[in-house]
Amino acid sequence: MILDANGRSFQYLRLSITDVCNYRCSYCLPNGYVEEAPRRFLDIDEIRHLVTGFAELGLWKVRLTGGEPTVRKDFAQIAATVSAIPGIGKVATTTNGYQLAKHAQLWRDAGISAINISIDSLDPVNFQRITGMDHLPRVLKGVDAAEAAGFDDIKINTVLLKDLNHHELDRFLDFVKDRQISLRFIELMETGDNAAYFEKHHLCASTIIKALVARGWQPVARMIAAGPAQEFSHPAYAGKIGIIAPYAKDFCQTCNRLRVTARGDLRLCLFGDGGHNLRHLLQSADQKNELQRTVTSLLQQKASTHLLHFHQSGATKNLSALGG
Ligand code: 5AD
Ligand code: SF4
Repeated sequence: MILDANGRSFQYLRLSITDVCNYRCSYCLPNGYVEEAPRRFLDIDEIRHLVTGFAELGLWKVRLTGGEPTVRKDFAQIAATVSAIPGIGKVATTTNGYQLAKHAQLWRDAGISAINISIDSLDPVNFQRITGMDHLPRVLKGVDAAEAAGFDDIKINTVLLKDLNHHELDRFLDFVKDRQISLRFIELMETGDNAAYFEKHHLCASTIIKALVARGWQPVARMIAAGPAQEFSHPAYAGKIGIIAPYAKDFCQTCNRLRVTARGDLRLCLFGDGGHNLRHLLQSADQKNELQRTVTSLLQQKASTHLLHFHQSGATKNLSALGG
C-alpha cells in the first residue's frame, strides 16, 4: 500500500474518461461544455495500463467519472476492462443518469457494482432551472432501472444550493422513505469559475444537519475508510441521508483517493495546482514499473489539505473535468 508524507494510504482511484458533459449545471457548466483541448481521451489500452499499474500499488476501487462518463460510446467496454483487472474489487461510476433507464443492466453486467446518480431537484421545473435539462422524469426512471438491475450500492448526489433546492429538503427525505438508497447532500464548493454563484448559493451543511436532527434523524457511527460522507438514519425511513462537508475541519485527513483526468494527468488533490502527465507512461505494458515509480514519488508532494477556506481552488475552474 502506498502512503503519502502525511501517512494517508490510497485505495481509491477516480478516473475521468471524458471532459464532455451534455448538462449545464448552473454551478459547474452554466454555458455548457466548451472544448478547450482536442477530445483525445485515454483509450481502452491506456486505461488498462494505468489501472493495472495502480492496482499493484494497492488501489482496489475505481470510479469512472467525467464530465459525463456515459457519453463515451465505449463506456460499457471500459467498465468491463477495468473490472477484469486483477486486484480491482469494486468499479463504481458517477452519472447524471440521462442514459440510465436504457443501459442500467448493460452497465451492471459490465461489472459496475456501485452507481452515484446526480439529482439536484425533485421538482421538474426546478431540475431544469438547475441543470439546464428537462430530464427529471427520465433520470427517475433511471433510478428505478438501477434498482431493478441489482446494483449493490445506489446513491443520489444532491448539491446543496441556498434558495435553489434547500427548500426541497422534505421532498428529498420522502424520496428515501421506502428506497434502500442513500441520498447525500454535497456542500457547494467554490471553483475558479463560480465565485459569484458560490457567494449567492453556498449553504453550510450544518444547516441541513440541524434540520435532520430536528426531524429525528440520527448520525450513523462512521466506518473506517467509509468515505467522506457523514450518514444519518431514521427508524421510519428505509434509506439514509449523507452529508459531504468539504469545508468541515479535518475533511482532508481521511483522504484516500487519487484522481486521473481524461487526458492522463495525475491530480493529487481536487483543488491542487494542476496535474502531472502520466500519458507517456501508458503506451505499453512494459512501462508499468516506471509508471509506479513516478506515481509513488509524486505522491510525496500531496498537500495535507485543500485551501478552499481561503477561496483558493487551485487549477480547478469547474468540476466537469474531474467529476467531483
Ligand atoms: N460543488 C459541489 N459539488 C459539485 N459537483 C459538481 N460541481 C460541484 C461543486 N462546485 C457534483 C455534481 C455531481 C458530482 C460529480 O459533483 O453535482 O454530483
Ligand atoms: Fe452537471 Fe456533472 Fe455535467 Fe457538471 S459535469 S454540468 S455537474 S452533470
